[in-house]
Amino acid sequence: MTLSSTRTMESGKQGLTLKREVGLIGAVSFIAGTMMGSGIFISPQYVLSVIGSPGASLIIWTCCGLLAMLGGLCYAELGTVIPESGGEYIYMLRTTGKVTAFMFVFSFIIVMRPVSATGIALSFGEYVVAPFYEGCSVPQGLVKCVAAGAILTLSMINCLSVRLATHIQVLSMGVKILALAVIILGGCILLFQGNTENFNNAFEGTNVGVSTIGIAFYQGLWSYDGWNTLNYITEELKHPEVNLPRAVVIAISLVTGLYLLVNVNRHYLISIWGWIMSVAAALSAFGSLNGTFFSGGRVCFVAAREGHMPEILAMAHVHRLTPSPALIFTTIISLVVLIPGDFQSIVNYFSFTAWFFYAITLSGLLYLKIKKPELPRPYTVPIILPILVLIAAIFLVLAPIIDSPQIEYLYVALFIFSGVIVYVPFIHYKLCPGLLTKLTVFLQLFLEVAPAEKNL
Ligand code: ARG
Repeated sequence: MTLSSTRTMESGKQGLTLKREVGLIGAVSFIAGTMMGSGIFISPQYVLSVIGSPGASLIIWTCCGLLAMLGGLCYAELGTVIPESGGEYIYMLRTTGKVTAFMFVFSFIIVMRPVSATGIALSFGEYVVAPFYEGCSVPQGLVKCVAAGAILTLSMINCLSVRLATHIQVLSMGVKILALAVIILGGCILLFQGNTENFNNAFEGTNVGVSTIGIAFYQGLWSYDGWNTLNYITEELKHPEVNLPRAVVIAISLVTGLYLLVNVNRHYLISIWGWIMSVAAALSAFGSLNGTFFSGGRVCFVAAREGHMPEILAMAHVHRLTPSPALIFTTIISLVVLIPGDFQSIVNYFSFTAWFFYAITLSGLLYLKIKKPELPRPYTVPIILPILVLIAAIFLVLAPIIDSPQIEYLYVALFIFSGVIVYVPFIHYKLCPGLLTKLTVFLQLFLEVAPAEKNL
């Protein structure tokens, strides 16, 4: 995103506004580039071990892709009916109300975004370090230091220039498509040479427990997560009413196709697991982390603009025109989460929280479709789509709890709802209004930032 130094007359304030810089290619890269990150290089093996057979695992990957596509299409309608940046936050604010929107942004900023950044950064660290420790276990401290380095570098790049961040996104997408193509091609050659033994009795040994399926979905869906990336930056997209749905369809079908092919050729992925693949996987994670930062800072920024986060987070750098305070805030929390974090559990708790909020967002879309049919809709989906995705989301949230309840999910749920406890005194009753003023003025001078306006 950039902010042009136009002055907004109607508010009477000197303001900066967002500039539309992301075209169709950039848009596709943001979605596909964020989706393809750490997961596809790690999860195929894990999904297979959870679900028990290659046939069932392929079905899981197909369903995950389908779910991402349907979710993406529903979000495309939301993004064109409510053309503001901020993703789930802004949709909840405009449909289900302030309290759910705040609950979302509270969980998003404190847990979901830092946790997803940390997950991706950890896998980046693993890939960078692994080639130097062939045959022995990798020291976790070192992995975490490399992960922290990646987080700091990308946050700096995002503070300095939107254009540079966009270039990195496009470039890293090229690298990962190339890496996945190599895996697929190599695997296909093996298949044609007659190595098809993995596909005999493809469904033997399938585990069909509700929570097994739920967990397999969580892992698969982590690899597809990011299908909603563009909805966080709608205000920076050129012609969002055309480019948003188009980019969703192109990017998600591309990623689904690649993922399925990689899964069919999974054995080849393991057998060529040398340092070249490590480098490619590291670059892929780096790009995904970049997309995560780019869009994550925006949510902070939009929520602060609506008065749900401290004002300083809604400001942008006066020359560089990037929302640096929001980016710096996300970085600090990511670094904190990095200290205790581990990849597998990060993925499961992330997916649980994310699908809980996707469900609320989709019910918001249903509300708009039923109660406000008169709103202009440049792009619309049949009502059955949000209903289907909503049912899937409810299943995904409940499945791991019903079958084998784990106390951790209760903690996560309690955290999500604790947002309400913060909302009532600080946002609704505006207790301690002057508390942040001094700090805001100091930071504003220190960071050279000024308030930014909406760009609709
Ligand atoms: N799909 C990505 C991966 O496989 C993770 C995306 C996390 N979510 C996000 N919104 N950045 O690494």
